[in-house]
Amino acid sequence: MTTKWLAALTGLFMAGWLVLHVLGNLTAFSGAAALDGYAAALRRLGPLLWLMRAALVAAVVVHIAATVSLARRAQAARPIRHVHRWPRGSSTSRLMVVGGPLLLVFIVYHLLHLTFGLLHPSFAPGHVYANLVCGLAPPLIGAFHVVAAALVALHLHHGLASALVSFGSRRVSAGVLRHLLRGVAVAIAVGFATVPVAVLAGALR
Ligand code: HEM
Repeated sequence: MTTKWLAALTGLFMAGWLVLHVLGNLTAFSGAAALDGYAAALRRLGPLLWLMRAALVAAVVVHIAATVSLARRAQAARPIRHVHRWPRGSSTSRLMVVGGPLLLVFIVYHLLHLTFGLLHPSFAPGHVYANLVCGLAPPLIGAFHVVAAALVALHLHHGLASALVSFGSRRVSAGVLRHLLRGVAVAIAVGFATVPVAVLAGALR
């Protein structure tokens, strides 16, 4: 399997997981019992949940390794330029080079905050709704989650387009497909952003 395919397949797997995560988050709008019940049902999956988490971690590692390798190859193949910009490359690849690591920083923070509770002021295991509402209430933290949602949209939009090119589609830059990818990326980002925005607005408490 080529490096491009590895990057594309792991990216699509993570995109699928993100859709499930957004849908899970949106149960918060049905109240604490709904979100806590959903989280409890996931935990009852036991080994299956751990298998999913292991697959997710493996996908993140392989995705980073593959995309770093592709970026290095693209840089090596580029003719020498006299004007150096950092990071080098087109505006799209620069966006991925800066946005990817920023997303990784967010994910590490996010796990320490809402999964392990180490960076949370009043974390209570199993009380996902209360942890969420209390955790996102400080305006800077809520805003950080909205920024992360926007980063996810940009990364997904460009990543999905690259994945389709890797799978042989030559028409990604053309009309309908490009709008469709943009629509998917924006829908996921809006789904993510609604929860912190609702907490900041006092609609979820
Ligand atoms: C911006 C809005 C987001 C909210 C409100 C949110 C909320 C949460 C919550 C409450 C948990 C803990 C779930 C539990 O304990 O059962 C969680 C876990 C997690 N979130 Fe998010 N999340 C958001 C965005 C994201 C994004 C953008 C990513 C990835 C790019 C992400 C990745 C994760 C991961 C990897 C976990 C751990 C899942 C596990 O324990 O198996 N989240 N999130």
